[in-house]
Amino acid sequence: MEQIIINGGSPLYGNVSIGGMKNAALPVICACVLNEEACVIDNIPPVSDIETLLEILSTMGASVRRLTKYSVEINCKNLVPCTSPMELANKLRGSSYLLGAEFGRFGKSSVSHPGGCSIGARPLDLHMKAFEALGADCTHRNGRLEVEAENGRPVGSSIYFDKVSVGATANAILASVLADGITTIDNAAREPHIVDLAVFLNACGAIITGAGTSVIKVKGVEKLHGCRYSIIPDMIEAGTYMAAVAATGGRVTVTNVIPKHLEAISSKLEEAGATVTVGDDFVTVESTGKLKGINIVTQPYPGFATDMQAQFGAMLCFAAGTSTITENIFNSRFQYTDELSKMGADIKVDGNHATIIGGAKLSGAPLMSHDLRGGAAMVIAALATEDTSVIEGIDKIERGYHNIVGKLRDLGANIQKKTSYTDEQIRVAFN
Ligand code: EPZ
Repeated sequence: MEQIIINGGSPLYGNVSIGGMKNAALPVICACVLNEEACVIDNIPPVSDIETLLEILSTMGASVRRLTKYSVEINCKNLVPCTSPMELANKLRGSSYLLGAEFGRFGKSSVSHPGGCSIGARPLDLHMKAFEALGADCTHRNGRLEVEAENGRPVGSSIYFDKVSVGATANAILASVLADGITTIDNAAREPHIVDLAVFLNACGAIITGAGTSVIKVKGVEKLHGCRYSIIPDMIEAGTYMAAVAATGGRVTVTNVIPKHLEAISSKLEEAGATVTVGDDFVTVESTGKLKGINIVTQPYPGFATDMQAQFGAMLCFAAGTSTITENIFNSRFQYTDELSKMGADIKVDGNHATIIGGAKLSGAPLMSHDLRGGAAMVIAALATEDTSVIEGIDKIERGYHNIVGKLRDLGANIQKKTSYTDEQIRVAFN
Protein backbone atom coordinates (compact mmCIF):
# COMPACT_ATOMS: atom_id res chain seq x y z
CA MET A 1 0.00 0.00 0.00
CA GLU A 2 1.29 3.48 -0.75
CA GLN A 3 0.53 6.47 1.39
CA ILE A 4 0.99 10.24 1.26
CA ILE A 5 2.52 11.91 4.31
CA ILE A 6 1.93 15.65 4.71
CA ASN A 7 3.43 17.96 7.32
CA GLY A 8 0.97 20.78 6.81
CA GLY A 9 0.81 24.45 7.72
CA SER A 10 2.98 25.95 4.96
CA PRO A 11 1.55 28.44 2.46
CA LEU A 12 1.88 27.46 -1.21
CA TYR A 13 3.84 29.62 -3.65
CA GLY A 14 4.81 29.24 -7.30
CA ASN A 15 3.44 27.91 -10.58
CA VAL A 16 1.67 24.66 -11.33
CA SER A 17 1.05 23.39 -14.87
CA ILE A 18 -2.24 21.60 -15.55
CA GLY A 19 -2.48 18.43 -17.64
CA GLY A 20 -5.11 17.15 -20.04
CA MET A 21 -8.60 16.51 -18.70
CA LYS A 22 -9.16 12.87 -17.65
CA ASN A 23 -12.93 13.12 -18.18
CA ALA A 24 -12.41 14.53 -21.68
CA ALA A 25 -9.73 12.02 -22.69
CA LEU A 26 -11.83 8.98 -21.76
CA PRO A 27 -14.67 9.58 -24.28
CA VAL A 28 -12.21 10.81 -26.95
CA ILE A 29 -10.16 7.61 -26.62
CA CYS A 30 -13.34 5.53 -26.93
CA ALA A 31 -14.41 7.64 -29.92
CA CYS A 32 -11.38 6.22 -31.79
CA VAL A 33 -13.32 2.93 -31.90
CA LEU A 34 -15.63 4.61 -34.46
CA ASN A 35 -12.65 5.20 -36.75
CA GLU A 36 -10.92 2.72 -39.10
CA GLU A 37 -7.98 5.11 -39.47
CA ALA A 38 -5.29 6.06 -36.97
CA CYS A 39 -5.76 9.03 -34.62
CA VAL A 40 -3.09 10.73 -32.52
CA ILE A 41 -4.32 12.17 -29.23
CA ASP A 42 -2.06 14.68 -27.47
CA ASN A 43 -2.17 16.12 -23.92
CA ILE A 44 -3.40 12.84 -22.52
CA PRO A 45 -3.05 12.74 -18.68
CA PRO A 46 -0.86 9.73 -17.74
CA VAL A 47 -3.20 8.59 -14.94
CA SER A 48 -4.35 5.08 -14.14
CA ASP A 49 -7.87 5.41 -15.60
CA ILE A 50 -6.36 6.34 -18.96
CA GLU A 51 -3.80 3.53 -18.82
CA THR A 52 -6.58 1.02 -18.08
CA LEU A 53 -8.73 2.23 -21.00
CA LEU A 54 -5.80 2.07 -23.42
CA GLU A 55 -5.08 -1.46 -22.18
CA ILE A 56 -8.71 -2.42 -22.85
CA LEU A 57 -8.51 -1.18 -26.46
CA SER A 58 -5.22 -2.96 -26.99
CA THR A 59 -6.66 -6.21 -25.57
CA MET A 60 -9.55 -5.88 -28.05
CA GLY A 61 -7.16 -5.80 -31.00
CA ALA A 62 -6.61 -2.07 -31.49
CA SER A 63 -3.12 -0.78 -32.20
CA VAL A 64 -2.17 1.53 -29.30
CA ARG A 65 1.25 3.17 -29.70
CA ARG A 66 2.56 5.52 -27.02
CA LEU A 67 4.40 8.35 -28.83
CA THR A 68 5.31 10.23 -25.64
CA LYS A 69 4.13 10.13 -22.01
CA TYR A 70 1.31 12.47 -23.08
CA SER A 71 0.60 11.39 -26.66
CA VAL A 72 -0.78 8.16 -28.06
CA GLU A 73 -1.60 6.86 -31.54
CA ILE A 74 -4.72 4.68 -31.65
CA ASN A 75 -5.85 2.63 -34.65
CA CYS A 76 -9.02 0.59 -34.12
CA LYS A 77 -9.23 -0.80 -37.67
CA ASN A 78 -8.79 -4.35 -36.37
CA LEU A 79 -10.62 -3.95 -33.09
CA VAL A 80 -12.95 -6.87 -32.32
CA PRO A 81 -16.23 -5.63 -30.77
CA CYS A 82 -17.79 -7.05 -27.62
CA THR A 83 -14.46 -8.35 -26.32
CA SER A 84 -13.58 -5.80 -23.62
CA PRO A 85 -12.19 -7.71 -20.62
CA MET A 86 -14.54 -7.46 -17.63
CA GLU A 87 -11.78 -7.27 -15.06
CA LEU A 88 -10.47 -4.09 -16.69
CA ALA A 89 -13.75 -2.48 -17.79
CA ASN A 90 -15.23 -2.66 -14.30
CA LYS A 91 -12.34 -0.63 -12.89
CA LEU A 92 -13.58 2.69 -14.27
CA ARG A 93 -16.70 4.55 -15.31
CA GLY A 94 -15.05 5.63 -18.56
CA SER A 95 -15.36 2.13 -20.04
CA SER A 96 -19.10 2.85 -20.42
CA TYR A 97 -18.21 4.95 -23.47
CA LEU A 98 -17.28 1.74 -25.26
CA LEU A 99 -21.00 0.98 -25.37
CA GLY A 100 -21.81 3.97 -27.55
CA ALA A 101 -18.67 3.69 -29.67
CA GLU A 102 -19.00 -0.06 -30.39
CA PHE A 103 -22.74 0.25 -31.04
CA GLY A 104 -22.08 3.27 -33.23
CA ARG A 105 -19.62 1.49 -35.51
CA PHE A 106 -20.63 -2.17 -35.35
CA GLY A 107 -24.34 -1.98 -34.49
CA LYS A 108 -23.64 -4.00 -31.36
CA SER A 109 -21.79 -3.75 -28.07
CA SER A 110 -21.18 -5.76 -24.95
CA VAL A 111 -19.37 -4.20 -21.99
CA SER A 112 -19.26 -5.18 -18.33
CA HIS A 113 -20.98 -2.84 -15.93
CA PRO A 114 -18.54 0.03 -15.43
CA GLY A 115 -16.81 0.89 -12.18
CA GLY A 116 -16.07 4.40 -11.00
CA CYS A 117 -16.03 6.34 -7.77
CA SER A 118 -18.43 5.19 -5.05
CA ILE A 119 -20.28 8.48 -4.78
CA GLY A 120 -23.82 7.23 -5.01
CA ALA A 121 -26.03 5.55 -7.59
CA ARG A 122 -24.45 5.33 -11.03
CA PRO A 123 -27.10 3.75 -13.24
CA LEU A 124 -27.02 3.48 -17.03
CA ASP A 125 -30.76 3.89 -17.70
CA LEU A 126 -30.29 7.16 -19.61
CA HIS A 127 -27.54 5.59 -21.72
CA MET A 128 -29.88 2.70 -22.58
CA LYS A 129 -32.72 5.12 -23.34
CA ALA A 130 -30.45 6.75 -25.93
CA PHE A 131 -29.44 3.44 -27.49
CA GLU A 132 -33.07 2.24 -27.62
CA ALA A 133 -34.10 5.50 -29.29
CA LEU A 134 -31.47 4.72 -31.94
CA GLY A 135 -33.03 1.30 -32.57
CA ALA A 136 -31.17 -0.95 -30.15
CA ASP A 137 -32.27 -3.74 -27.83
CA CYS A 138 -30.46 -3.48 -24.47
CA THR A 139 -30.12 -6.51 -22.21
CA HIS A 140 -28.11 -7.33 -19.09
CA ARG A 141 -26.40 -10.70 -19.40
CA ASN A 142 -23.72 -12.22 -17.15
CA GLY A 143 -22.71 -8.84 -15.72
CA ARG A 144 -22.43 -7.24 -19.13
CA LEU A 145 -24.71 -4.73 -20.79
CA GLU A 146 -25.46 -5.90 -24.36
CA VAL A 147 -26.68 -3.45 -26.98
CA GLU A 148 -27.72 -4.56 -30.47
CA ALA A 149 -29.32 -2.64 -33.33
CA GLU A 150 -32.46 -4.32 -34.65
CA ASN A 151 -31.34 -3.77 -38.24
CA GLY A 152 -27.55 -3.84 -37.87
CA ARG A 153 -26.93 -0.08 -37.63
CA PRO A 154 -28.15 2.75 -35.35
CA VAL A 155 -30.95 4.82 -36.91
CA GLY A 156 -31.04 8.59 -36.27
CA SER A 157 -33.74 9.64 -33.82
CA SER A 158 -34.76 12.16 -31.16
CA ILE A 159 -33.44 11.61 -27.64
CA TYR A 160 -34.66 13.48 -24.57
CA PHE A 161 -32.79 13.12 -21.27
CA ASP A 162 -35.01 13.46 -18.19
CA LYS A 163 -31.86 14.38 -16.24
CA VAL A 164 -28.64 16.04 -17.41
CA SER A 165 -26.04 13.29 -17.74
CA VAL A 166 -22.49 13.77 -18.98
CA GLY A 167 -21.99 10.08 -19.70
CA ALA A 168 -25.31 9.53 -21.40
CA THR A 169 -24.84 12.65 -23.55
CA ALA A 170 -21.39 11.47 -24.64
CA ASN A 171 -22.70 7.98 -25.37
CA ALA A 172 -25.62 9.36 -27.39
CA ILE A 173 -23.13 11.32 -29.52
CA LEU A 174 -20.85 8.29 -29.97
CA ALA A 175 -23.79 6.06 -30.92
CA SER A 176 -25.21 8.48 -33.51
CA VAL A 177 -22.12 9.70 -35.41
CA LEU A 178 -22.35 6.85 -37.98
CA ALA A 179 -26.12 6.35 -37.66
CA ASP A 180 -28.48 6.32 -40.64
CA GLY A 181 -30.05 9.80 -40.42
CA ILE A 182 -30.13 12.74 -38.03
CA THR A 183 -30.20 12.53 -34.22
CA THR A 184 -31.30 15.28 -31.84
CA ILE A 185 -30.17 15.11 -28.21
CA ASP A 186 -32.30 17.27 -25.93
CA ASN A 187 -31.45 18.33 -22.35
CA ALA A 188 -27.84 17.43 -23.18
CA ALA A 189 -24.94 18.01 -20.79
CA ARG A 190 -23.03 21.24 -21.60
CA GLU A 191 -19.69 20.36 -19.97
CA PRO A 192 -16.47 21.40 -21.76
CA HIS A 193 -15.60 17.74 -22.20
CA ILE A 194 -18.79 17.21 -24.23
CA VAL A 195 -17.62 20.04 -26.50
CA ASP A 196 -14.15 18.46 -26.65
CA LEU A 197 -15.63 15.15 -27.79
CA ALA A 198 -17.70 16.86 -30.49
CA VAL A 199 -14.75 18.94 -31.74
CA PHE A 200 -12.60 15.81 -31.93
CA LEU A 201 -15.27 13.86 -33.83
CA ASN A 202 -15.91 16.76 -36.22
CA ALA A 203 -12.15 16.85 -36.88
CA CYS A 204 -12.56 13.19 -37.93
CA GLY A 205 -15.38 14.08 -40.33
CA ALA A 206 -18.45 13.82 -38.11
CA ILE A 207 -21.24 16.41 -38.39
CA ILE A 208 -22.15 17.53 -34.86
CA THR A 209 -23.66 20.91 -34.02
CA GLY A 210 -24.84 22.47 -30.75
CA ALA A 211 -22.29 20.86 -28.41
CA GLY A 212 -22.04 23.06 -25.31
CA THR A 213 -25.74 23.85 -25.49
CA SER A 214 -28.59 21.69 -24.23
CA VAL A 215 -29.61 20.67 -27.78
CA ILE A 216 -27.09 18.74 -29.85
CA LYS A 217 -27.68 17.61 -33.44
CA VAL A 218 -25.72 14.77 -35.08
CA LYS A 219 -26.00 14.09 -38.81
CA GLY A 220 -24.88 10.50 -39.42
CA VAL A 221 -21.98 10.00 -41.87
CA GLU A 222 -20.74 6.83 -43.59
CA LYS A 223 -17.27 6.76 -42.04
CA LEU A 224 -14.66 8.85 -40.25
CA HIS A 225 -11.04 9.65 -41.09
CA GLY A 226 -8.05 9.90 -38.80
CA CYS A 227 -6.88 13.14 -37.17
CA ARG A 228 -4.51 14.54 -34.58
CA TYR A 229 -6.14 16.17 -31.57
CA SER A 230 -5.13 17.72 -28.23
CA ILE A 231 -7.28 17.22 -25.12
CA ILE A 232 -8.49 20.32 -23.22
CA PRO A 233 -6.86 21.18 -19.86
CA ASP A 234 -8.35 19.59 -16.75
CA MET A 235 -10.56 22.20 -15.07
CA ILE A 236 -10.98 19.98 -12.00
CA GLU A 237 -7.25 19.46 -11.53
CA ALA A 238 -6.86 23.23 -11.87
CA GLY A 239 -9.67 23.91 -9.41
CA THR A 240 -8.14 21.50 -6.91
CA TYR A 241 -4.87 23.48 -6.78
CA MET A 242 -6.85 26.74 -6.61
CA ALA A 243 -8.78 25.49 -3.58
CA ALA A 244 -5.56 24.23 -1.99
CA VAL A 245 -3.79 27.60 -2.03
CA ALA A 246 -6.98 29.34 -0.89
CA ALA A 247 -6.95 27.06 2.17
CA THR A 248 -3.22 27.18 2.95
CA GLY A 249 -2.62 30.81 2.01
CA GLY A 250 0.02 31.90 -0.47
CA ARG A 251 0.10 32.75 -4.16
CA VAL A 252 -0.10 30.19 -6.94
CA THR A 253 -0.35 30.66 -10.69
CA VAL A 254 -2.16 27.76 -12.37
CA THR A 255 -0.99 27.57 -16.00
CA ASN A 256 -2.21 25.80 -19.15
CA VAL A 257 -5.90 26.37 -18.34
CA ILE A 258 -8.98 27.74 -20.12
CA PRO A 259 -10.12 30.39 -17.59
CA LYS A 260 -13.69 30.33 -18.88
CA HIS A 261 -14.02 26.72 -17.66
CA LEU A 262 -13.02 27.91 -14.17
CA GLU A 263 -15.51 30.78 -13.83
CA ALA A 264 -17.73 29.14 -11.21
CA ILE A 265 -14.70 28.05 -9.17
CA SER A 266 -13.01 31.47 -9.40
CA SER A 267 -16.21 33.24 -8.46
CA LYS A 268 -16.73 31.14 -5.31
CA LEU A 269 -13.09 31.53 -4.28
CA GLU A 270 -13.42 35.33 -4.50
CA GLU A 271 -16.67 35.14 -2.51
CA ALA A 272 -14.69 33.27 0.19
CA GLY A 273 -12.07 36.03 0.28
CA ALA A 274 -9.32 34.83 -2.05
CA THR A 275 -8.10 37.00 -4.95
CA VAL A 276 -8.22 35.51 -8.45
CA THR A 277 -6.39 37.16 -11.35
CA VAL A 278 -7.30 35.82 -14.81
CA GLY A 279 -4.90 35.69 -17.78
CA ASP A 280 -5.25 34.20 -21.28
CA ASP A 281 -4.20 30.71 -20.26
CA PHE A 282 -3.60 31.01 -16.52
CA VAL A 283 -5.24 32.08 -13.29
CA THR A 284 -3.41 33.32 -10.19
CA VAL A 285 -4.96 32.70 -6.79
CA GLU A 286 -3.75 34.71 -3.79
CA SER A 287 -4.97 34.07 -0.26
CA THR A 288 -4.12 35.10 3.29
CA GLY A 289 -5.51 31.74 4.34
CA LYS A 290 -8.19 33.64 6.29
CA LEU A 291 -11.38 32.85 4.38
CA LYS A 292 -15.02 33.43 5.19
CA GLY A 293 -17.80 30.89 5.00
CA ILE A 294 -19.87 30.62 1.77
CA ASN A 295 -22.65 28.45 0.38
CA ILE A 296 -22.01 25.94 -2.45
CA VAL A 297 -24.73 24.38 -4.64
CA THR A 298 -23.54 21.84 -7.21
CA GLN A 299 -25.15 21.96 -10.65
CA PRO A 300 -24.38 20.70 -14.16
CA TYR A 301 -21.99 22.95 -16.11
CA PRO A 302 -21.80 25.95 -16.18
CA GLY A 303 -22.88 25.65 -12.54
CA PHE A 304 -20.51 24.73 -9.72
CA ALA A 305 -19.07 21.29 -10.55
CA THR A 306 -19.90 18.34 -8.32
CA ASP A 307 -16.30 17.22 -8.89
CA MET A 308 -15.15 20.31 -6.95
CA GLN A 309 -17.53 19.82 -4.01
CA ALA A 310 -15.21 17.79 -1.78
CA GLN A 311 -12.23 20.08 -2.33
CA PHE A 312 -14.29 23.11 -1.31
CA GLY A 313 -15.67 21.18 1.65
CA ALA A 314 -12.11 20.71 2.90
CA MET A 315 -11.17 24.33 2.18
CA LEU A 316 -14.22 25.70 4.04
CA CYS A 317 -13.19 23.88 7.24
CA PHE A 318 -10.57 26.64 7.46
CA ALA A 319 -12.97 29.50 6.75
CA ALA A 320 -14.38 31.62 9.58
CA GLY A 321 -18.11 31.16 10.07
CA THR A 322 -20.64 28.71 8.70
CA SER A 323 -20.70 27.28 5.18
CA THR A 324 -23.27 25.04 3.54
CA ILE A 325 -22.92 22.62 0.64
CA THR A 326 -25.86 21.25 -1.34
CA GLU A 327 -24.93 18.27 -3.55
CA ASN A 328 -27.51 18.01 -6.32
CA ILE A 329 -25.78 15.55 -8.66
CA PHE A 330 -24.86 12.44 -6.65
CA ASN A 331 -26.61 10.99 -3.63
CA SER A 332 -23.61 9.94 -1.59
CA ARG A 333 -20.78 12.37 -2.14
CA PHE A 334 -20.05 13.39 1.48
CA GLN A 335 -18.04 10.33 2.59
CA TYR A 336 -14.93 12.50 2.81
CA THR A 337 -16.51 14.47 5.68
CA ASP A 338 -16.16 11.44 7.99
CA GLU A 339 -12.42 11.54 7.40
CA LEU A 340 -12.19 15.30 7.94
CA SER A 341 -14.07 14.84 11.22
CA LYS A 342 -11.14 12.72 12.42
CA MET A 343 -9.05 15.91 12.11
CA GLY A 344 -11.54 17.81 14.27
CA ALA A 345 -13.62 19.34 11.48
CA ASP A 346 -17.16 20.29 12.53
CA ILE A 347 -19.31 19.09 9.62
CA LYS A 348 -22.93 17.93 9.84
CA VAL A 349 -24.38 16.01 6.90
CA ASP A 350 -28.13 15.70 6.39
CA GLY A 351 -29.03 13.97 3.13
CA ASN A 352 -27.62 16.04 0.29
CA HIS A 353 -26.80 18.99 2.54
CA ALA A 354 -23.65 19.57 4.60
CA THR A 355 -23.13 22.34 7.14
CA ILE A 356 -19.54 23.24 7.98
CA ILE A 357 -18.72 25.25 11.10
CA GLY A 358 -15.34 26.58 10.09
CA GLY A 359 -12.46 28.03 12.05
CA ALA A 360 -11.68 25.11 14.36
CA LYS A 361 -7.98 24.28 14.63
CA LEU A 362 -7.65 20.89 12.95
CA SER A 363 -5.07 18.28 13.89
CA GLY A 364 -3.35 15.70 11.73
CA ALA A 365 -4.81 12.21 11.47
CA PRO A 366 -4.55 8.93 9.56
CA LEU A 367 -6.98 9.35 6.64
CA MET A 368 -8.42 6.94 4.06
CA SER A 369 -9.28 8.11 0.54
CA HIS A 370 -12.54 6.48 -0.53
CA ASP A 371 -12.79 8.18 -3.93
CA LEU A 372 -10.86 10.43 -6.27
CA ARG A 373 -12.12 13.86 -5.24
CA GLY A 374 -12.60 12.89 -1.60
CA GLY A 375 -8.93 11.96 -1.58
CA ALA A 376 -8.03 15.34 -3.04
CA ALA A 377 -10.07 16.94 -0.26
CA MET A 378 -8.00 15.14 2.35
CA VAL A 379 -4.80 16.38 0.73
CA ILE A 380 -6.11 19.95 0.93
CA ALA A 381 -7.13 19.56 4.58
CA ALA A 382 -3.76 18.05 5.49
CA LEU A 383 -1.86 20.83 3.68
CA ALA A 384 -3.72 23.51 5.64
CA THR A 385 -3.35 21.78 9.03
CA GLU A 386 -0.24 22.52 11.13
CA ASP A 387 0.38 18.88 11.89
CA THR A 388 1.26 15.59 10.24
CA SER A 389 -1.35 13.57 8.34
CA VAL A 390 -1.04 10.23 6.57
CA ILE A 391 -3.40 9.47 3.67
CA GLU A 392 -3.97 5.86 2.57
CA GLY A 393 -5.78 4.72 -0.57
CA ILE A 394 -3.82 7.09 -2.75
CA ASP A 395 -4.34 4.83 -5.77
CA LYS A 396 -7.78 6.43 -5.94
CA ILE A 397 -6.23 9.90 -6.01
CA GLU A 398 -3.77 8.90 -8.71
CA ARG A 399 -6.66 7.78 -10.94
CA GLY A 400 -7.16 11.45 -11.76
CA TYR A 401 -4.17 13.48 -10.56
CA HIS A 402 -0.84 13.01 -12.31
CA ASN A 403 2.17 13.71 -10.08
CA ILE A 404 0.14 15.46 -7.36
CA VAL A 405 2.93 14.94 -4.80
CA GLY A 406 5.62 16.40 -7.08
CA LYS A 407 3.45 19.35 -8.10
CA LEU A 408 2.61 20.20 -4.49
CA ARG A 409 6.22 19.78 -3.38
CA ASP A 410 7.22 22.26 -6.11
CA LEU A 411 4.75 24.69 -4.51
CA GLY A 412 6.51 24.39 -1.15
CA ALA A 413 4.42 21.69 0.48
CA ASN A 414 6.12 19.30 2.90
CA ILE A 415 4.70 16.17 1.27
CA GLN A 416 6.02 12.75 0.38
CA LYS A 417 4.78 9.41 -0.88
CA LYS A 418 5.94 6.21 0.74
CA THR A 419 5.09 2.56 0.71
CA SER A 420 3.46 1.33 3.89
CA TYR A 421 3.85 -2.33 4.74
CA THR A 422 1.22 -4.38 6.51
CA ASP A 423 2.31 -6.32 9.59
CA GLU A 424 1.94 -9.48 7.53
CA GLN A 425 4.21 -8.11 4.80
CA ILE A 426 6.82 -7.18 7.43
CA ARG A 427 6.56 -10.61 9.09
CA VAL A 428 7.02 -12.38 5.76
CA ALA A 429 9.87 -10.10 4.72
CA PHE A 430 11.83 -10.63 7.93
CA ASN A 431 11.20 -14.38 8.40
C1 EPZ B 1 -19.13 11.96 -15.14
O1 EPZ B 1 -19.74 10.85 -14.52
C2 EPZ B 1 -17.76 12.07 -14.52
N1 EPZ B 1 -17.01 10.86 -14.75
C3 EPZ B 1 -17.87 12.33 -13.02
O2 EPZ B 1 -16.55 12.60 -12.54
C4 EPZ B 1 -18.70 13.58 -12.79
O3 EPZ B 1 -18.90 13.74 -11.40
C5 EPZ B 1 -20.06 13.45 -13.50
O4 EPZ B 1 -19.85 13.16 -14.90
C6 EPZ B 1 -20.88 14.73 -13.39
O5 EPZ B 1 -20.17 15.79 -13.93
C7 EPZ B 1 -16.40 10.69 -15.95
O6 EPZ B 1 -16.49 11.53 -16.81
C8 EPZ B 1 -15.63 9.41 -16.12
P1 EPZ B 1 -23.57 11.74 -15.00
P2 EPZ B 1 -21.14 10.27 -15.10
O7 EPZ B 1 -24.09 10.73 -15.93
O8 EPZ B 1 -21.16 10.45 -16.57
C9 EPZ B 1 -27.51 10.20 -12.88
C10 EPZ B 1 -14.66 12.39 -11.20
O9 EPZ B 1 -14.51 12.69 -10.01
N2 EPZ B 1 -27.61 9.25 -13.98
O10 EPZ B 1 -23.46 13.16 -15.45
O11 EPZ B 1 -21.36 8.94 -14.54
C11 EPZ B 1 -26.32 9.92 -11.98
O12 EPZ B 1 -26.67 8.93 -11.02
C12 EPZ B 1 -15.92 11.68 -11.64
O13 EPZ B 1 -13.85 12.67 -12.11
C13 EPZ B 1 -28.78 8.51 -14.12
O14 EPZ B 1 -29.72 8.65 -13.33
O15 EPZ B 1 -22.16 11.30 -14.43
C14 EPZ B 1 -26.06 11.26 -11.36
O16 EPZ B 1 -26.98 11.45 -10.30
C15 EPZ B 1 -16.79 11.28 -10.46
N3 EPZ B 1 -28.89 7.62 -15.14
C16 EPZ B 1 -26.43 12.24 -12.48
O17 EPZ B 1 -27.24 11.50 -13.41
C17 EPZ B 1 -27.87 7.45 -16.06
O18 EPZ B 1 -28.04 6.63 -16.99
C18 EPZ B 1 -25.22 12.78 -13.24
O19 EPZ B 1 -24.45 11.66 -13.66
C19 EPZ B 1 -26.70 8.21 -15.92
C20 EPZ B 1 -26.59 9.12 -14.87
